[in-house]
Amino acid sequence: MPAVGEKGPRSEQDLSEYLALEGGDGTGKSTVAEGLGSRLEAMGHEVVMVREPGGTELGEVVRGLVLDSDSVAPWAEVMLFAAQRAQLAEEVIRPAMARGAWVVSDRTYYSSIAYQGRARGLGEDLVRQINETALRGTLPDRVFVLDVDPALALERQHRPDRIGREGVDFQVAVREAFRDLARTEPDRVLLLDGMRSVDDLISTILGTIEP
Ligand code: TYD
Repeated sequence: MPAVGEKGPRSEQDLSEYLALEGGDGTGKSTVAEGLGSRLEAMGHEVVMVREPGGTELGEVVRGLVLDSDSVAPWAEVMLFAAQRAQLAEEVIRPAMARGAWVVSDRTYYSSIAYQGRARGLGEDLVRQINETALRGTLPDRVFVLDVDPALALERQHRPDRIGREGVDFQVAVREAFRDLARTEPDRVLLLDGMRSVDDLISTILGTIEP
């Protein structure tokens, strides 16, 4: 079994990658993730699209619990996000990667580091450690963060969920956390100006992953 934080063995012809879109609420990452998936498919790749929280039967139930419940204790929130993520890695992402499919994810455990670790103040290192333990080495190869002014991003939200209703200061903390992650992990996390057009963002993303 690979050590926490390491990738498992990949076959020599397996050039696929696990790509993720990240950002605060209303930054447009779902649209970019969908467009990126379509472009990769048009290039002839098998693409598996996933979203967090969700992406499995268990994960969709957890999504309802964590986003729609009136009250969720902060550490319960961390554990629910980590639980749905462990299930997604086991049931969908590891098998997809093993057969050489590309995975495009709308959010990953980097959201937990930013939202729960930083904005809720639970500690980024501890939240990272919990998630990396649960993921058993299935970590995203590249994380693309859409950076948008939270005041503008929140205006785009039609029906914010429980976490989206935390307000602008919370989203400012989330944004700062993502910016710091891009600074401290430049090999994995790339910050992109989320005000750019979707096509432009997708081209930039593809430019960084194509040889
Ligand atoms: P998402 O469905 O991506 O919502 P949006 O499209 O509005 O950004 O995510 C739902 C909410 O859950 C969002 O407020 C971010 C939050 N979230 C966390 O707080 N921690 C996590 O680990 C994840 C995956 C999401």
